[in-house]
Amino acid sequence: MLLKENNTELKRQINYNVEKIRSDFPILSQLVHGKPLVYLDNAATTQKPLHVLHSLENYYYKQNANIHRGVHALSQEATEAFESSRIKVKKFINALGKNEIIFTKGTTESINLVAQTYCRKFLKEGDDIIISEMEHHSNIVPWQLICEEKKANLKVIPISETGELIFEEFEKLISEKTKLVSVVYASNSLGTVNPVKEIINLAHSYNVPVLLDAAQAVNHLELDVQELDCDFLAFSGHKLYGPTGIGILYGKVNLLEIMPPYQGGGDMISKVTFKQTTYNELPHKFEAGTPNIAGAIGLGAAIDYVSNVGLDRIAYYENTLLEYATDKISTLSGLRVIGTAKNKISVLSFVLDNIHPHDVGTFLDFEGVAIRTGHHCTQPVMDKFKIPATSRASFGMYNTFDEIDILYNGLKKILEVFK
Ligand code: ALA
Repeated sequence: MLLKENNTELKRQINYNVEKIRSDFPILSQLVHGKPLVYLDNAATTQKPLHVLHSLENYYYKQNANIHRGVHALSQEATEAFESSRIKVKKFINALGKNEIIFTKGTTESINLVAQTYCRKFLKEGDDIIISEMEHHSNIVPWQLICEEKKANLKVIPISETGELIFEEFEKLISEKTKLVSVVYASNSLGTVNPVKEIINLAHSYNVPVLLDAAQAVNHLELDVQELDCDFLAFSGHKLYGPTGIGILYGKVNLLEIMPPYQGGGDMISKVTFKQTTYNELPHKFEAGTPNIAGAIGLGAAIDYVSNVGLDRIAYYENTLLEYATDKISTLSGLRVIGTAKNKISVLSFVLDNIHPHDVGTFLDFEGVAIRTGHHCTQPVMDKFKIPATSRASFGMYNTFDEIDILYNGLKKILEVFK
């Protein structure tokens, strides 16, 4: 077990300079309620390094123009910057082609896009879609909407008391009637990392495509869509130290080709007449209207930044933070960790006996500690554990062992005050 005392040795071993990383995130050096900010709400959104902030500033200062439309210099420069971000995303997740990378508003829109195009075309009455009990609402409701419309069934893989997916139940649910499996790679409220490779292999043995919700995985785990062989993958820029309002839908080209467009408008067309409209080639067929140009450029900068630090080193460091935090807060009597899977990202959900998570969050806020409290948009998970909400600390690449001590001391104080 790597504890705080081994921190220096650990950082030396993996060549991880957390102080240098922190200096790239100006927001982290401010005071909140007179206390140094301890930002532990990274599963909700991550902070942005200067490299990303400068890329946004540079775009608006020097390049702002619409893309794919102008022959003038600025438009060409903006198009170049936008499209080069697409190539960065392609490389980051190891897609086969840049035409498999669709820019969306975020994970939610990416999932809705698949529901409203692929499923609208291919889902029939009596078919099944399979999800799991640990999904975020954005990987539940889009399927409920389309299943209702098509009179199809939404089947749910249950989870265990540790917050792990029960694979044997998935084996029982999948059948010739299954048209799509959509599961979360890493849970936002429990931290569980799912055995997605096994899920994909089994689904493919039934010729069923799989969508991975990688919103929480993207900044913790290296993604290789070819190695995973997933059919769709969705994530958001803002969980990867990039801007909000930008996200990615990856889809295998053969599937994207047979899917109808999502929204109609400029850029997604090839030719428009009142009689008939033909559509643009991939990926533009799915990108109607002026996109979030700055957001895409900022996402490209975030990928540069994260790649430069090294996602493998970030993951290793965050795992040690998670182990340290889990061990430390578990010593507090009256505290129960929710989500004790063997394989987790650095998300730590817990409840305190007889103290509502919102009180915990408010109390910690006055200590300068930002965590998220609530159902985390996973109400079925709360129902499973028979709790209304949890407190959730989630760690990013810039968090420190000292910050975990501050969290621990805050929790200790709350338990004393409420006793
Ligand atoms: N889905 C984000 C979270 O888990 C917002 O906090």
